[in-house]
Amino acid sequence: MKKIQPASNPKVEQLKTHVVDNANQRLTTNDGSPIYDNNNTLKAGNRGPSLLQDHVYLDKLMHFDRERITERVVHARGSAAHGVLEIHEDITAYTSAKFLQKGAVTPLFLRFSTVAGFRGSTDLARDVRGFAIKFYTEDGNFDLVGNNIPVFFIQDAMNFPDLVHAVKPEPNNEMPQAASAHDTFWDFISLMPEAAHMVMWAMSDRAIPRSLRMMEGFGVHTFKLVNAEGKGTFVKFHWKPKLGVHSVAWNEAQKISGFNSDFHRQDLWEAIEKGNFPQWDLGVQLIPEEDELKYSFDILDVTKIVPEEVVPVKIIGTMTLNRNPENFFAETEQSAFDPGRLVPGIDVSDDPLLQGRIFSYMDTQNYRLGGPNFHELPINRSVNQKHNNQLDGFAKSDILKGEVSYFPNSKQAGCPYQAMLKGETGFQSHKQPVDGKKVRERSDSFADHFTQARLFFRSQSPEEQDHIIGAYSFELSKVTDPKIRERELAILYQIDEALASRVGENLNITPPKELDPLTLQFVRQNHPNYPIKPKKP
Ligand code: HEM
Repeated sequence: MKKIQPASNPKVEQLKTHVVDNANQRLTTNDGSPIYDNNNTLKAGNRGPSLLQDHVYLDKLMHFDRERITERVVHARGSAAHGVLEIHEDITAYTSAKFLQKGAVTPLFLRFSTVAGFRGSTDLARDVRGFAIKFYTEDGNFDLVGNNIPVFFIQDAMNFPDLVHAVKPEPNNEMPQAASAHDTFWDFISLMPEAAHMVMWAMSDRAIPRSLRMMEGFGVHTFKLVNAEGKGTFVKFHWKPKLGVHSVAWNEAQKISGFNSDFHRQDLWEAIEKGNFPQWDLGVQLIPEEDELKYSFDILDVTKIVPEEVVPVKIIGTMTLNRNPENFFAETEQSAFDPGRLVPGIDVSDDPLLQGRIFSYMDTQNYRLGGPNFHELPINRSVNQKHNNQLDGFAKSDILKGEVSYFPNSKQAGCPYQAMLKGETGFQSHKQPVDGKKVRERSDSFADHFTQARLFFRSQSPEEQDHIIGAYSFELSKVTDPKIRERELAILYQIDEALASRVGENLNITPPKELDPLTLQFVRQNHPNYPIKPKKP
């Protein structure tokens, strides 16, 4: 593979100022006082009790006692690397985002993750992989917090905590730690046919990648690009690995997990150390605003893809990972990604899952990283200096100058100004028309749960289909409640009769032809007239 030298970039330079090299340095306390003896506590006599006045010991132990922070509530297990994005194509007609202009080279930090397992769980679990990128642009940080699967389990953010409680280990016995093969997951999924498409991907080889370097990445939701004139264009982001997409078989995944649960982490680290820098092409699917309602599916429904035959993927740039983090905790663990971190030229769409995510990330990071100043941690800092009137809070490290920290004020010294007052550009939300009653409902344009699941299953090769059938059979065989297994088989029947009957044969169950009444009752809570005929494209 082509070797690219790590480009010198402003983020690398900024991080260097925080790196501490302990080699050949005199040991000190946290306040810099030189330590003479690091072996013995201070005692009253050499066999006597230890003394509370031993500030050297207290300094060491008080810090040690606080070394662990809460892990991420989801995506706790992750591995990351630094890199750059280079843009080759001109898309100025669609976006004013500076880092997406032809010729732009932008530093970035990418964290891959599994979703369900704890921080110490195996890399090779059957699971979705997180694909979260922080771009350090000259207009501040833009985070594209995506996955390696282009759709999601649920359509509305209100269901997210329930989904996660069903996926994670059962609360009474914390089993199983990093697998989906348990009653609670399949119970939830079999009552939520909107998950059918995503579950099909999760049962496919995509959910057991050979390497983090060999996975596609997706922004998943529909976002909006906004150009200098304020015109919006819907966009889907794609990352296509130069090494191609490769997976392992399930029996290989199980063996690898047994031998080396850091398999993916080690593979990524070693490739970068050797100069085999992984690369991905950045592609965009562009949908004019006028076409928003043109498709048989709703582009705001995150359980649907926009097929590449319908809207081709235009390749606009290349991402290269070229540097391992210096320190796992300071960088990988403390990195904070958030789909609400936007820069001028990119905006969110009205996808109700994306809208809900915007609250959750900032909220959890305020908790996980100990308060509102996590933006000042080196890994999270933008490369441009932030300027605002926000003050104080735990672990503040910026030293704000001046007496003015409020707006409006008549003492201009020390107070940042708004871009609009000086005719400069700044983030402006896309001016889209909005109309309607305030309701707690789901659009019937979100009601087709099976067409794309079928499309995905039938697009797979016979071997890949065998793997999917094997995965459903294995997973459902671990479910203890026969009602749950039957409910899921009824869902599979709606997707593809042959799929359902082959899984059914393996489990010794005849697949029911109709959705279970409990499933139907749940679906009709969202769509009272279900089933609803999908719109013709
Ligand atoms: C991590 C919430 C849906 C991708 C997280 C975290 C939370 C969260 C609270 C932990 C963040 C942290 O501690 O820093 C939600 C909610 C969702 C949702 C409420 C739906 C309403 C999604 C979707 C995707 C996704 C649809 C993919 C497109 C990720 C990734 C991470 C993550 C990649 C890990 C980021 C990292 O590496 O630090 N999510 N999530 N999430 N989520 Fe979501």
